[in-house]
Amino acid sequence: MKILGIETSCDETAAALIEGENDHVVLKANVLATSLALHAKTGGIIPEQAAREQAKFILPVIKETLNKSLDTSDPLESLRTIDAIAVTYGPGLIGSLLVGVETAKTLAYVLNKPIIPVNHMVGHIYANFINTSLRDHEVARRFEEASPLGGKQSHLRLPRSLSVARNDEIQFPLLALVVSGGHTDLLLMKRHGDFQLLGGTRDDAAGEAFDKIGRMLGLSYPAGPEIEKLANLGNPKHFHFPRPLLHENTYEFSFSGLKTAVLREVKATKQLNNQTIRDICRAAQDAIIDVLVKKTLRAAKEHNVKSILLSGGVSANQTLREEFSRLNPSQGIPSGQLSTQIFAPAKSLCTDNAAMIASAAYFNYNPVPWQEITADPELYF
Ligand code: KG4
Ligand code: ZN
Repeated sequence: MKILGIETSCDETAAALIEGENDHVVLKANVLATSLALHAKTGGIIPEQAAREQAKFILPVIKETLNKSLDTSDPLESLRTIDAIAVTYGPGLIGSLLVGVETAKTLAYVLNKPIIPVNHMVGHIYANFINTSLRDHEVARRFEEASPLGGKQSHLRLPRSLSVARNDEIQFPLLALVVSGGHTDLLLMKRHGDFQLLGGTRDDAAGEAFDKIGRMLGLSYPAGPEIEKLANLGNPKHFHFPRPLLHENTYEFSFSGLKTAVLREVKATKQLNNQTIRDICRAAQDAIIDVLVKKTLRAAKEHNVKSILLSGGVSANQTLREEFSRLNPSQGIPSGQLSTQIFAPAKSLCTDNAAMIASAAYFNYNPVPWQEITADPELYF
């Protein structure tokens, strides 16, 4: 089954084509137009500007996806060969969502194809179920090994259990950690489409904390990747920031106290030189990762899950991925007896993309009449 995915919930304009058969999803094309350069200038997303860019890019992005994945050079002919259309209908920015939703509905109507509305957060989880090609897998691994904390320190190398390509090994019940710019959610899944929310954030999301701390330090938006780079050069002992709710009996998260603690330190520091910035990045990242990893592993133990799926933009963070592997109690148990395996998508599929939306639609195939689909900015699980 060939599914065309469309995703425009925030600042990206994305389309992708996946092919699924017997619970095995292969990525055929994954195209993304970003307006990040615009947002970096303004220090954040201006919703109307994002939606205008998306209206400009949506058709060229779909056309490029079809050109890359299907044999014909005629986009209309290619569109006729797809089996279904999947589109993000929330949560997100209303203007942005409307661009994708209305485009997808029009295509479904004109081509008489089934259309599946997908929750963006569910999409993030299903990025884990996409089998990237061997080439993508190798590129991802080489990239990981070249990172400052990667291959050079062999004990930190990614173990086989943190797999980006062997997702047919994912087993239920599983725990999904969604860590993005808007959400930090821990969910228990006993089967496809069944989501039990164990805890979410009470205030800022993990990605939002990265972005706000970055702003205090004069870094451009989104700050997560830059903080990760600077943290690799930081002294872990110079600063220590609080780990909110870490020891409390809840799976909820809270990151606004951490943000305030960083702000206090930034104000108290007379000279914010490059090394101090690196040290703050290191301490802030350590605090965020510590909370995410320890709470998730505690929940995994309590619910006796077989797999943990990391997802969302923050799960592209290499140190987070390594900490999960390092602290996983199943680490070191010979393969075959692994009690909890940890998975993370290829890094390019952690941040917003349309392949994850198509993948979610494949595993939760619930087409609805196009007339019934409306964008829902506040959608939750
Ligand atoms: O999932 P995503 O692309 O968009 C939302 O649905 O929000 O996540 C974007 C978030 C941003 O806050 C960004 O700073 C963060 O993910 N992010 C990272 C990294 N890459 C992206 N945070 C930490 N380390 C990274 N390498
Ligand atoms: Zn997202």
